Amino acid sequence: MGLSIVILAAGAGTRMRSDIPKVLHKISGKEMLYYSIREAKKISSDVKVVLFHKSETIKESMSRYFDGVEYVIQDHDRFPGTGGALKNIDFKHERVLILNGDMPLVEARELEVFANSTKDIAMSVIELKSGEGYGRVIIEDNSVKKVVEEKDADERTKKINLVNGGIYSIKKDILNRFLPLMNNNNAQKEYYLTDIIEFAKKSSLEIEPIFVKEENFKGVNSKADLADAEEIMQKRIKDRWLKEGISMRLPQTIYIEESVEFEGECFIESGVSILGSCKIEKSTIKSNSIVEDSTILNSSIGPMARVRPKSYIVDSHIGNFVEVKKAKLEGVKAGHLSYLGDCEIGRGSNVGAGTITCNYDGKHKHKTIIGEDVFIGSDTQFVAPVNIGNRVLIAAGTTVTKDVKSGALAVSRVEQKEIDGFYDRFFERK
Ligand code: UD1
Ligand code: MG
Repeated sequence: MGLSIVILAAGAGTRMRSDIPKVLHKISGKEMLYYSIREAKKISSDVKVVLFHKSETIKESMSRYFDGVEYVIQDHDRFPGTGGALKNIDFKHERVLILNGDMPLVEARELEVFANSTKDIAMSVIELKSGEGYGRVIIEDNSVKKVVEEKDADERTKKINLVNGGIYSIKKDILNRFLPLMNNNNAQKEYYLTDIIEFAKKSSLEIEPIFVKEENFKGVNSKADLADAEEIMQKRIKDRWLKEGISMRLPQTIYIEESVEFEGECFIESGVSILGSCKIEKSTIKSNSIVEDSTILNSSIGPMARVRPKSYIVDSHIGNFVEVKKAKLEGVKAGHLSYLGDCEIGRGSNVGAGTITCNYDGKHKHKTIIGEDVFIGSDTQFVAPVNIGNRVLIAAGTTVTKDVKSGALAVSRVEQKEIDGFYDRFFERK
């Protein structure tokens, strides 16, 4: 039997207190909705996303990742709420899986359990210490009777610790039969999807509660929830890489985003952040370094180095307080205190402490190209655009403003003077 999936993402997300639509808040570098769509597409080819608030912004950011997702605009003015979100949708298949768009931790293999239910309705139920923030599930004689939203719950109901996880698998005919019966007689004046449970119970339909863990089914409604979900996602990402053989010193202090890839033996020290799309192969990233959208092969980075986007670093050593951006470094040593931006440096070259590529003239960015086996003395500035040949020596303290030919020495220094006895005269000592 085929399966249609609908992801509800039209809500304003007011509890986030942000102008960014709730489902676009990021966890481990990707929007929450990205995870829901990614997992949904693993088990169905009919994936619809219901939007309303900032729908164009959401569509645009998801289209960067996915094709073949259908976006439906909710008639939110007339029918607000999770039930309103499902009105007038044509589902291809006989069974529909409904997901809230604010549950980024759910994985496809868990969704399959719901999809495979043969009952009229299957719904997720979580047992918590406190049900705060969720709709409470009333179970009588081992069967689900109804769901009461927190804002509609009396004190006794609020004490119930069984909550609605926000995932439902339901036969299409049943959904279509009950959607028109919903009303908005509740505290939020919204059409609640959860009312369907009560209608189904009254019609003696079978409702299967599927018990799940909050760790995977957490609903994100506030910044505090977002921070909790981030912690869970980070643990998942790092556990996966640890299992693959990546070494991490104090993994709880390390932050690794979703689209980072490792290969071969890698060592990641404490306090490291690896962001965006990175490929790290056979390399060591030492304490408190940040690496973003870059490729690092067979190299050692840090401690306290910053590798900014579009850097490609192979067989190199980048030491402390070195900032690198859009740099292609192959077989290079840059041990200390440098800025290497918009540059290419060739094999065997050594970058002295305090080297700066002056890449920006206030209007445009320019490139510095440095050849092989170049020895760059400390405190050198390259005023880009500038080209340095192979086997070049740059004397310490040089400001390079012109191209340098292979085999040459470049030096730009004021000659040193010495004035005898100046110190005592200056401080008026005898
Ligand atoms: C909902 C459930 C609650 C459950 C909880 C689980 C209802 C009425 N309540 O509450 O029982 O415990 O999820 O996390 O369903 N949305 C729309 N259109 C709207 C309103 C919301 O598409 O008009 C979307 C939101 O973007 C969101 C999802 O539906 O992704 C859930 O909405 P939210 O407001 O977060 O519902 P909760 O209060 O969390
Ligand atoms: Mg929610």
